[in-house]
Amino acid sequence: MSSDSRFVPLVLKTDTEPNMNKNFISSACKFFSLVFVFAFINFTSSAQEISTDPAAIKAGQGLFNANCKACHAVKRKLVGPALGGVQDRVPSIKWIKDFVHNSSAVIKSGDDYAVKLYNEYNKTQMTAFTSLKDEDIMNILAYVKSEHEKPEEVAAPAAGAQAGQAGETASSKYLNVILIGMVLILLLLLIILALIVSALKRFLDQKELSEEDREVVHSPINVGSVTRSPGFIFIVVFLVAALGFKAVINVLFSVGVQQGYAPKQPIAFSHKIHAGQYEIDCKYCHIGVTKGKNATIPSVNICMNCHNQIKSGTLTGEGEIGKIVAAYENNKPIEWVRIHNLPDLAYFNHAQHVNVGGVECQTCHGPIETMDVVRQHSLLTMGWCIDCHRKTDVNTKGNAYYDKLVELHKKSSKTPMKVEDEGGLECSKCHY
Ligand code: HEC
Ligand code: HEC
Ligand code: HEC
Ligand code: HEC
Ligand code: HEC
Ligand code: HEC
Repeated sequence: MSSDSRFVPLVLKTDTEPNMNKNFISSACKFFSLVFVFAFINFTSSAQEISTDPAAIKAGQGLFNANCKACHAVKRKLVGPALGGVQDRVPSIKWIKDFVHNSSAVIKSGDDYAVKLYNEYNKTQMTAFTSLKDEDIMNILAYVKSEHEKPEEVAAPAAGAQAGQAGETASSKYLNVILIGMVLILLLLLIILALIVSALKRFLDQKELSEEDREVVHSPINVGSVTRSPGFIFIVVFLVAALGFKAVINVLFSVGVQQGYAPKQPIAFSHKIHAGQYEIDCKYCHIGVTKGKNATIPSVNICMNCHNQIKSGTLTGEGEIGKIVAAYENNKPIEWVRIHNLPDLAYFNHAQHVNVGGVECQTCHGPIETMDVVRQHSLLTMGWCIDCHRKTDVNTKGNAYYDKLVELHKKSSKTPMKVEDEGGLECSKCHY
């Protein structure tokens, strides 16, 4: 009993002690976890600071050009919003990461900002970049920020793919300035003439004039005499002729230019579903693109690799896929309507650009993976080819073939070697 009674308090004691310990441990745990959370928040928020490190900016530039440039510019709206300053208008940096990783998930979650933006951009879905790491996205933001903060002139040439259009707007701006200048000069001349006329009238008033002359001097200007005057007729004829001439020139320039051409195809094949939603590699279907001149349109067999299993689509049910199966079973090729087509006199080689040059499909064909119906994105004129050859650096990295050329080029010039420096402007390279 005594041993018991001695034992009990001991038990009690050992019983309360762990309790106290538990309390102590749990509150310590809370404390430390709070500290940890704070430290973590601090850590992440400092990691969310957009870097100004040149290495990060450089890495970001590469990633931006490869993944985002097809749809985004820094200072202009393209397919998507101008990305400059995006960190200040979105809910958070984390939001950007989630959105870039999988924008449709963010939109589906009902996020107000995302839904509003999505509707504003006519429900154009941004590609999901699941493979980009958080760090990659921060590098892209670093690049965008540095471009955004650069003065206008420096950033302009980086516009790249759309530079053709930028050039056009620049020249049309000049035209506007010239036109406004001319109108101002004409107004000035009118004022001067009016002043001279009134001065002359006053001068004539002081002279002795016959009644007839006085009438002429004081006759009010009447509309009929003005419209019948040879000067007026000349001006009108000149204006009409000039406008007509400009219209003719515009039509001539667009002869054979099929930018925007998007014919209806025999089967409602959608790049948005295949290349966008299901991220099937372009080269899986356009097998020629790395090997030779033609990218090639896939044969029915390639479609059947998947569509012998997938028999109906969510949009068109069985109808459209049924046509593939029918073509396969009847051994009849599908008659796709050709969209991009250079005249026979010009030579264009895909492998040269995609494999050797490392040019992205989207640079020339636009954001195909967002198109339900393919449309011609670029002008495909000679000026378009040449423009890019003037601007684009040759990708010589890891290609021994170029070593000598690069050496030679370095001796004569300080700028990186462009396509034009290796003969990209020679007629015979593009014409048979
Ligand atoms: C296929 C075209 C496309 C590509 C490629 C693309 N985006 Fe987008 N992006 C969009 C569109 C369209 C929107 C507008 C929102 C929407 O419609 O989903 C958008 C919106 C955004 C926004 C929100 C902008 C704002 O104003 O709030 C960010 C950030 C963004 N994109 C980043 C990127 C980054 C980074 C890349 C490259 C890794 C990229 N996007 C590649 C089309 C694209
Ligand atoms: C599942 C197969 C498939 C995939 C993947 C695919 N395409 Fe296509 N592509 C086609 C078919 C079929 C056509 C012809 C029908 C049409 O124009 O929609 C075509 C047509 C085109 C055309 C127009 C050809 C013409 O007539 O001038 C271009 C350009 C193109 N694809 C580029 C791409 C790019 C770039 C990608 C990757 C982002 C891609 N395609 C991914 C099957 C595919
Ligand atoms: C790598 C697999 C793959 C290949 C190759 C492929 N498809 Fe598909 N296709 C799909 C998937 C996945 C769907 C989506 C089915 C769905 O929406 O449930 C689809 C859907 C479709 C649809 C129906 C779209 C809708 O929602 O109604 C058509 C039409 C279609 N494909 C045509 C083609 C043609 C033509 C080719 C060959 C040029 C082709 N596909 C090659 C995977 C493929
Ligand atoms: C440097 C610009 C450029 C790039 C990069 C480019 N294309 Fe093309 N593509 C063209 C031109 C120009 C034509 C028209 C060629 C012709 O008519 O001879 C064309 C035609 C096509 C056609 C239809 C005719 C054919 O050649 O079979 C397809 C399909 C196509 N491209 C797919 C692609 C794919 C896929 C990629 C990326 C892997 C790609 N292109 C990259 C410029 C380009
Ligand atoms: C987006 C930019 C771009 C466009 C647009 C473009 N090219 Fe090119 N082109 C390149 C690059 C980059 C190379 C260099 C490839 C290499 O490393 O040899 C090249 C190389 C060439 C060459 C080989 C030149 C040589 O001396 O080896 C020919 C020929 C050519 N392109 C024809 C064309 C034609 C024709 C068009 C228009 C239908 C065109 N290119 C449009 C970027 C472009
Ligand atoms: C980078 C490739 C490239 C180079 C270099 C090039 N051309 Fe062309 N040229 C083209 C393409 C592509 C077309 C077809 C354009 C079209 O259909 O609008 C073309 C069209 C033409 C045409 C026909 C215009 C018409 O109305 O059909 C003539 C003439 C011509 N080029 C002359 C030349 C001469 C001369 C040179 C050398 C000083 C030259 N080209 C260099 C790509 C090139």
